[in-house]
Amino acid sequence: MFLACGASFGAEPPTPVRQTELMTLLKHDCGSCHGLTMKGGLGPPLLPDTLTGKDDQELARIILDGVPGKPMPPWRFELQPEEARWLVDRLREGLK
Ligand code: HEC
Repeated sequence: MFLACGASFGAEPPTPVRQTELMTLLKHDCGSCHGLTMKGGLGPPLLPDTLTGKDDQELARIILDGVPGKPMPPWRFELQPEEARWLVDRLREGLK
């Protein structure tokens, strides 16, 4: 048995089907402010370079809770915490 395997993850990573949904959300919903390729628009660029030095947890928290007083809306009702973290990883890799 490998019960300890993956125990450090709070939850399972998104399934492949959900990953496709999340990428569509990222390009369409997030892209409407951050740009289709995340180069920025109404929202700041979310490129690997611009995210350097920022904390994964903090970025995921912003995605879940939004930024009060700024146009960045909360996504907690659409995204699970582990899905927000997964999106941060995709942003760090950069969109193809
Ligand atoms: C209505 C416009 C809008 C939408 C839609 C939007 N954002 Fe934002 N986002 C912003 C703005 C504006 C900021 C900057 C807030 C500030 O000034 O601190 C921001 C900030 C962020 C940050 C912090 C960036 C940093 O460098 O600290 C992240 C990460 C982020 N958004 C991710 C997302 C994701 C992922 C989505 C889609 C699930 C999304 N945003 C959708 C407007 C938007």
